[in-house]
Amino acid sequence: MLGFAKKALVSEADSPAESTGPRHVAIIMDGNGRWAKKRHLPRALGHKKGVEAVREIVRYAATTGLEALSLYAFSSENWKRPEDEVSDLMGLLRAFIKSDIDEFAANDVRLKILGNYKVLAPDIIELIEDAITRTAHNTRTTLAVALNYGAQDELVRAAQAAAAEGAITEEAITRHLDTADMPPLDLVIRTSGEQRLSNFMLWQAAYAELWFTDTLWPDFGPEEFGRALAEFTTRERRYGGR
Ligand code: FPP
Repeated sequence: MLGFAKKALVSEADSPAESTGPRHVAIIMDGNGRWAKKRHLPRALGHKKGVEAVREIVRYAATTGLEALSLYAFSSENWKRPEDEVSDLMGLLRAFIKSDIDEFAANDVRLKILGNYKVLAPDIIELIEDAITRTAHNTRTTLAVALNYGAQDELVRAAQAAAAEGAITEEAITRHLDTADMPPLDLVIRTSGEQRLSNFMLWQAAYAELWFTDTLWPDFGPEEFGRALAEFTTRERRYGGR
């Protein structure tokens, strides 16, 4: 009864994200390379600008009541990129965790990783694990960064874990996904005009709303993110019913 009363009060009084807004948003951050190319700059600068956009979006997300934000930072297919680009991305990841972990900790943001990050460089693994430990008890917003992530690989791992328990059911697979302790995925955003999921959250996106924008990731800011969250509240979700 207590939980019920609390819920009614929250939905009347709070921001859209806390009432009818999404609980969990995933973003496919695309277009760093094109952003740089348009300006005759090296791709590395596009990624650097992309990290600045990440920072702004995470800061904003924490103010909206959003429970979880998942960001596709490095896919299991991104290893195919030239060595110097992979190394630039890893360098940016290293710098991002070092510079932003204090702010996450102070703002009650919990850091989580989707995908098998254990294959990354030992110093990055250490930074990640330290950041996870430091923010483990934070409850305001979960920031899930997908690193060496591929949804098909995640599904195989989840199915294997379910089989080892004795039964491959929807419930068991969901429980063994990297997102197991996160709210259901409500909204997937992809920037840069591409309209595909690219092996991101395939299981979780089963009933998620999709939102596409031509904006290149480095130019995607809180204002446009806010518009996506607001538009979500106008969508009618039927989950296969009528
Ligand atoms: C797509 O741009 C973006 C990525 C490869 C991943 C996103 C990475 C970042 C925003 C920087 C690192 C993130 C963190 C959290 C440290 P693209 O190179 O595919 O762009 P293009 O399609 O225009 O070439």
